Formats: sequence, C-alpha cells, structure tokens
Amino acid sequence: MSAAYLLDVGNVSKVFRLQKRTVRAVHRASLRVREGESVGIVGESGSGKSTLGRCAVGLLRPDEGAVRFLGTDLTRLSNKQMRAQRRHMQVVFQNPSTALNQRMTVGRNILDPLLIHRVGTRMQRGVRVFELMEQVGLSPEYANAFPFELSGGQQQRVMIARALALDPKLLLCDEVLSALDVSVQAQILALLLDLRRDRGLSMLFISHNLPAVEVLSDVIAVMYLGEILEMGRTEDLLANPRHPYTRVLFDSVLDIPESKAARKALRPLPGEMPSPYEIPNGCVFHTRCPVAQDVCRREVPQARTLDDDRQVACHYV
Ligand SMILES: Nc1ncnc2c1ncn2[C@@H]1O[C@H](COP(=O)(O)OP(=O)(O)OP(=O)(O)O)[C@@H](O)[C@H]1O
Ligand SMILES: [Mg+2]
Repeated sequence: MSAAYLLDVGNVSKVFRLQKRTVRAVHRASLRVREGESVGIVGESGSGKSTLGRCAVGLLRPDEGAVRFLGTDLTRLSNKQMRAQRRHMQVVFQNPSTALNQRMTVGRNILDPLLIHRVGTRMQRGVRVFELMEQVGLSPEYANAFPFELSGGQQQRVMIARALALDPKLLLCDEVLSALDVSVQAQILALLLDLRRDRGLSMLFISHNLPAVEVLSDVIAVMYLGEILEMGRTEDLLANPRHPYTRVLFDSVLDIPESKAARKALRPLPGEMPSPYEIPNGCVFHTRCPVAQDVCRREVPQARTLDDDRQVACHYV
C-alpha cells in the first residue's frame, strides 16, 4: 500500500444471504482515494454502490478483500478499534428526516458525536456546535429548533454539520441530494464543494445525478451488478467513455428531460439489469452489451489500466 492513499479498497466482495438465496452485492471491487480527492460512484439502482461505500467506511465488513485507511486494514480491526477509526470517516445519507433524531434539538443532534467521543469541555463543545452551524450555513437561532421544524435542505445541513463535528478525513455522501428540490440540491452541492476546498476533505460521492458527480468528483467509478467496470479521471471519462456500459449509461442520463412526467417515461437503458441472484457468466454486462461476442459470454474480462490511468474491464477495449 502506498501512503499516498487515504483509502485503499482492494478486491472487496460482499454477499448477502437471504434465506435460501444469496445476492452478490459487490464483487472484487478496488478503488483508491487520495487525501483531498473525491471519488464519485455511479451505476443503476442495485449495482452495489451503497454496499461498496459502506464497506469502504467500515459500516459493513466485506467477505473478501482489504480496506486500508491510512495504512490500517479496517477488515482486521476489532469492533472497538473500528469505533475509534470511524470518527475519521463520516457518512451523510439520503434522508435527513430519518437520520436525525427528531426528539432532540438541532444543536443537540450536532453535539451528539462530540459527547459520544468525549471531545473537549462542555464549553468547547458548545462553541464547536455554533462553529459547525456557521460552516454549513445554518443560522444560530436554529440551535434550539427541532429537525421537523426545518426544511429538507436545512435538515441536510444539520446532517452535514453533525458529520463534520469530529473533523473527519473522509465523508461518504450516499444520495445526499436525491430527497431535495432541485434548487436546494444546487445549494447543498455548493456547500459540499466549499467544504472540499476549505477543509481538504476527501469524499466518496454516490449519486444518480451525473452532473453533480461531475462537478464534485476527481475520479468516477462506474458500477454494474457489483463490479466496477470502468474508472478514470472525471474529464477523461466523460469526454471519452471506453466501456460499452459507461457509454450507454452516460447517453441515457446526460439528456434528462425537464418535466417530471417525461422523466418517468425515460427508460434508463435498453433491456433490464439481470437479477442479482443470477449473475451472468463471463462479462456481467454481456446480456445487454451492443458489442458482445462469444468470448464475453465465456470469460470474465480482467480490469486493465490504459494509457490515461483509465481502468476498464472489457475484452474489446
Ligand atoms: N442488507 C442487505 N440485505 C440483503 N440484500 C441487500 C442488502 N443491502 C443491499 N442488498 C442487495 O445488494 C444489491 C446491491 O445493493 P446496493 O444498495 O448496494 O445498490 P445501490 O447501487 O446502492 O442501489 P441504489 O441506487 O438503489 O441505492 C442489491 O441487489 C440489493 O438488493
Ligand atoms: Mg444505494
């Protein structure tokens, strides 16, 4: 492992067992995040983005592979050691109204991680809560309000303040925009950009909103049925997607119609993603791939690194 990486996820796999069936949620996925860097994860619903993100920040233990955070393999830590590491890796989820404690005031919600980790004196913690509120653009008068009295965007700001309380190095943002109105999405996105710039925060940014991923990420990983099929620097990947899946995915989402009705009618991709219970042999994408050949049905393509630091798993790239 190179010390240049804050996070080094190597060949991580995760299977969920449900009664008699097993779901292969993530399969041999690898990605690295440098300090101050942001990595976006995109892919259709059920492709394993959240599972990979959760494995990367120690919320889930992978079945295989290593997750090195500043050189420490999280998969080998005891629960107690993991709790100590977890303060460096915080998470913001999609739905602030369920993630926040609705019976505690906004101030108390933000204070909570400081209390749990016994940070500072009572006075210092109080000052810190107001600093955090200011950083995320919340007026101090909301400290005594309850989350349900705030708008969705404001609640998401509370979530972000809470996630920042312990001064983490890595923030996992899992669909943090999708429960918000479009205008509010832009405000939260701007806040996340400021935080990256001002605090040098590293991020794993999971989203269906490709334009948001584009502005926030240095690198984008494209997932399909649990595998990372392509990964590369954002500008290069968008300008020249190499994997056939990345191409159809970007074609389908770049041209998003304005009206809600039209969006509903939008079929994201031709064909259906196969059931995660029945992963196709060979390349996972071959059943929908416009250029699939015999070898794609038989052999799993290994991820290769191309000239521009691009990683692609396809027999024909
Ligand atoms: N706790 C769990 N128990 C059983 N199956 C799970 C669990 N979490 C995820 N899965 C399954 O693993 C697969 C990957 O799920 P995951 O939530 O990681 O996908 P995703 O890309 O985040 O999807 P979305 O875009 O809808 O959030 C799916 O088939 C899902 O049903
Ligand atoms: Mg998800």
